[in-house]
Amino acid sequence: MRQNTVALSLLCAAAAVTADQILFPNTTGAYRVGSKDLELVDYSRNDIYSPFPQPRDLMATLYYPIDDNQTTCTTDRLYTPLLATALDLLVTAPLGTFKRFALPSCIGAPLAHPDLPLVLFSHGYKGSRLLYAGFLQEFASHGFNVLAVDHPYDALVVEYPDGRFVYNTLDDSEAGAVEQDLEVRVEDMIFALNSMNNSTITSQIPGLSSDKCLQTSHVGILGHSFGGSTTLQATVNDTRFVAGTLLDGPFWGFANQTGTDAPIFLLAALQPSSEDWITEWTTTWPRLRGFKRWFDVAGTTHLSFDDIPLLGNLLDADLSETAGNVTGVRMIEIQSAFATSFFNRFLKNKNDGLLDGKDSNQWPEVSFAMN
Ligand SMILES: *[C@@H]1O[C@H](CO)[C@@H](O)[C@H](O)[C@H]1NC(C)=O
Ligand SMILES: *[C@@H]1O[C@H](CO)[C@@H](O)[C@H](O)[C@H]1NC(C)=O
Ligand SMILES: *[C@@H]1O[C@H](CO)[C@@H](O)[C@H](O)[C@H]1NC(C)=O
Ligand SMILES: *[C@@H]1O[C@H](CO)[C@@H](O)[C@H](O)[C@H]1NC(C)=O
Ligand SMILES: *[C@@H]1O[C@H](CO)[C@@H](O)[C@H](O)[C@H]1NC(C)=O
Ligand SMILES: *[C@@H]1O[C@H](CO)[C@@H](O)[C@H](O)[C@H]1NC(C)=O
Ligand SMILES: *[C@@H]1O[C@H](CO)[C@@H](O)[C@H](O)[C@H]1NC(C)=O
Repeated sequence: MRQNTVALSLLCAAAAVTADQILFPNTTGAYRVGSKDLELVDYSRNDIYSPFPQPRDLMATLYYPIDDNQTTCTTDRLYTPLLATALDLLVTAPLGTFKRFALPSCIGAPLAHPDLPLVLFSHGYKGSRLLYAGFLQEFASHGFNVLAVDHPYDALVVEYPDGRFVYNTLDDSEAGAVEQDLEVRVEDMIFALNSMNNSTITSQIPGLSSDKCLQTSHVGILGHSFGGSTTLQATVNDTRFVAGTLLDGPFWGFANQTGTDAPIFLLAALQPSSEDWITEWTTTWPRLRGFKRWFDVAGTTHLSFDDIPLLGNLLDADLSETAGNVTGVRMIEIQSAFATSFFNRFLKNKNDGLLDGKDSNQWPEVSFAMN
């Protein structure tokens, strides 16, 4: 039922595998970017998916602006080992392909701008926070602290620093599963946000002293696919999420009945995953009471809205059948420009007019659908 973010991909990577790193493109925004993995344990919540009692245990990655004069920059492989292997198998690439990918972002460099707005990210069903790293590091370079959160048992595989790991086990065919999984996802996002206001946790972020947390009273949220549903619902459950962006995500969950007061931006594939999604978007649209914009991107499919197009480009593989005709670099450019414009408008009170049609000639693939 839920669209799987990666399992449909049929990549046949032709490139010969060497031990070389394959570096993602550099970011283009005004800020250089650092990254830091965080384990966030919610001791107040039993994980209902775990086969034995244990607190809900999240992995997250923070992407954030660093100082220009930062001289040392450590990079490392992007995908954790089991995830890299799972992706190799999923797309029938030679074993060892995905472990070569690396981000240019500086791991563990000091976070330099704690007062820049925080935006949380939720991945698609059976996806991973790490499958959006190319887009998220670029978005962060435009002046946001961005926290990407994994939803364990829903994500393809989550790996913890001590070597534990959890694969996707959810059965989405059961009645009520979508609503229950969405509730857990929203709880995850609320807990991740609380964690950014907890100095015990933020003191693990380089550059933040124990008395300096991130700004958590007005934050943004965005997500792809089921992460888009998570986004919409989170704005209803917790008003600290003041604005939300859905990247080709359906309007599922009770929020499609109650609507939301938060500004909502939907960036959708022109070839949607199902006709139902268009009906759902159109039906719920009048229930969105704040600012709202819906744009479509020509030449895209559901899988265009993650790093798959970029991975295809970097491997010189033709993924157009599954991931559309827009190149990975261009996809990132589009998503980043529109998300930046939206969150600048509602988190920084800066409006460049892009969502009102200004400079639309620079974005011929992007067409206005509804407001
Ligand atoms: C990225 O930036 C680094 C450092 O400025 C530079 O050495 C490298 O060539 C750039 N990579 C690409 C692909 O442009
Ligand atoms: C880097 O720049 C910041 C100001 O942006 C300054 O506070 C810091 O001392 C500088 N660090 C070095 C190593 O020059
Ligand atoms: C969100 O709100 C709904 C409706 O009030 C409630 O049933 C649900 O438990 C809330 N979820 C979270 C995570 O706060
Ligand atoms: C902050 O995080 C620590 C470590 O997880 C936890 O023990 C503590 O209860 C948290 N504080 C609050 C106010 O939630
Ligand atoms: C952050 O935590 C402090 C207590 O540690 C609390 O007073 C404050 O309301 C929290 N802020 C937000 C935005 O949750
Ligand atoms: C509302 O969400 C439910 C899933 O929770 C979905 O089955 C239904 O089609 C959605 N309705 C609309 C109008 O989006
Ligand atoms: C990509 O281009 C091909 C050839 O023009 C076309 O058949 C296909 O529908 C396009 N895919 C998308 C997602 O627009």
